[in-house]
Amino acid sequence: MTQVKKRILFDAETIGARVKELATEISTNHPDGNLLLIGLLKGSFVFLADLVRHLTVPCEIDFARVASYGTGTVSSGTLEIIMDVQTPIRGKDVILVDDIVDTGLTLSEYRKRIEQEDPRCLEVAALVDKAARRDKHVNLDYCGFQIDEGFLVGYGLDCNEQFRHLDSICVLE
Ligand code: PRP
Repeated sequence: MTQVKKRILFDAETIGARVKELATEISTNHPDGNLLLIGLLKGSFVFLADLVRHLTVPCEIDFARVASYGTGTVSSGTLEIIMDVQTPIRGKDVILVDDIVDTGLTLSEYRKRIEQEDPRCLEVAALVDKAARRDKHVNLDYCGFQIDEGFLVGYGLDCNEQFRHLDSICVLE
């Protein structure tokens, strides 16, 4: 593969500390442990795995895989659900977990889908918020880092399916 230049934006130690803080917030807000965390594949798999290991309350874990369609900052508003969550949702404290919020299409549309299943409450956790790119509003209850620009890879984030395994978040140069 052609050599790609990357610069570390958030190293493993910084990410680890922030993820632990988010897990503490979640544990505090949901003391009765009625939690269902839903990771949006593929990008959320590292964040979710680290997040749940710092929770101090019980939780269920499930995944969904969706694909959004749009170009640049203009999204078509179409979300295809490739693999939906299987765990019953009614009455649970559900948290949707994703690696990054960009245009907001993915989380805003999938949130609507989950809302229909009558969760007791429904929150959103994202490791990285790229708010300048927002097209659809998403309320982020738990947010790791905010960035303005740059193409990010690592810690679950990919470029053409590469770099998801990196333990830091890097910006492509
Ligand atoms: C990425 C990311 C989010 C979504 C954010 O997923 O993981 O789910 O895009 O973009 P949005 O806010 O503009 O909707 P992607 O579709 O690249 O798939 P992946 O998770 O498999 O990498």
